[in-house]
Amino acid sequence: MTAKPLWLNLGTNRESNDPSLWLLNGRGYSPNVAIMGQAGSGKTRMMLKLLAQLREQTGVPVLLIDAGKDELADRPELARELGAVVVKVPKSPIPLDMFAGSDVSPESARDVAMDFCASLDKALKDGLTDNQKPRVVEALKPLLAQRRGIPLTDIQRTLEQHYEDNGIKEDRVLSSLRMMNQYSLFSPELTPAEFFGKSRILAFGGAPDESRRLALFLLFDALHRHLQTLPEAPMDAEFHRAVHLVVAIDEARPLLAAKHDGLSKLVRLHRSHGLAVFMASQSPDDYEGQSDDYMEQIGLPICFKTNATSTAVLNNMFKARRGLNFAALEPGVCLTVLDGVASRVSAF
Ligand SMILES: Nc1ncnc2c1ncn2[C@@H]1O[C@H](COP(=O)(O)OP(=O)(O)O)[C@@H](O)[C@H]1O
Ligand SMILES: [Mg+2]
Repeated sequence: MTAKPLWLNLGTNRESNDPSLWLLNGRGYSPNVAIMGQAGSGKTRMMLKLLAQLREQTGVPVLLIDAGKDELADRPELARELGAVVVKVPKSPIPLDMFAGSDVSPESARDVAMDFCASLDKALKDGLTDNQKPRVVEALKPLLAQRRGIPLTDIQRTLEQHYEDNGIKEDRVLSSLRMMNQYSLFSPELTPAEFFGKSRILAFGGAPDESRRLALFLLFDALHRHLQTLPEAPMDAEFHRAVHLVVAIDEARPLLAAKHDGLSKLVRLHRSHGLAVFMASQSPDDYEGQSDDYMEQIGLPICFKTNATSTAVLNNMFKARRGLNFAALEPGVCLTVLDGVASRVSAF
């Protein structure tokens, strides 16, 4: 993937009638996109339109995650356009070695165990208790230090053994893992380089919420750790950085609400590794409570009609204190910020 300027056409500027173009990999800001708007306002359509343009210009792998229904998994023309393999969880498991690299050193085993514990905590409706957390980390460190390709069933068995050996009463950690392992969420076949090197559409229609969240949080952590091992993506003479992977998340609201550290790291830390993150969710309020630093890493906010208006989000993402009326936007029209100026754009 060579470095070159990547311009995306968002639609037609309502004031000037010119095409509204955004430079995805310009200098001094992030290539991340937040698309917002009420149901049926055009978020998914906009996201797919931008992804198609990127694919056309670069052939970059796209990991398109439908965190809501199975909507995007049942569109063969979309899979063809993105050159993507469709993975419908849990009918087919995610073919990724989620814990890859844990066996490199005792420190990596510890870090992966801590990440797993944090992901399980965020995935479960009632989270983990302060007693359960260190227990999970201690129990899993030896297993993670030992080898690669660990499936979730081995995580469960290791924890069961640890509980038995230490005379600990059965609790939600074991019961929830047993429930999740009724499904095959992932099978550790591919290395992160192999898995993230190809376009995929991931959908979770048949998986319960807690399983869906755990699978995605483990995936975000795995991607974060993988990107950390990579050198910086090259830039051309004008500082346009090559993009190596786009992670696009539709129906991202529950993932944003969980404030998972892995997703936050993908948004904040990996521009230099050639990662771009696109997220679509219903409302600017979905970003309420994220750090300012996080919102500053949204290079392009796009908002279709919505009644919700979080002031903090408007200030941070749209650089505007007032005067932006999202509730009055007509169908197909969005508000965005191009070159620091709020613009109304006809997208469709
Ligand atoms: N390629 C397309 N051509 C024409 N209409 C479309 C296309 N894709 C979606 N639509 C329509 O545009 C509207 C917005 O769809 P969508 O992007 O799925 O909304 P959202 O994701 O915000 O819920 C819907 O009425 C949908 O039927
Ligand atoms: Mg949608």
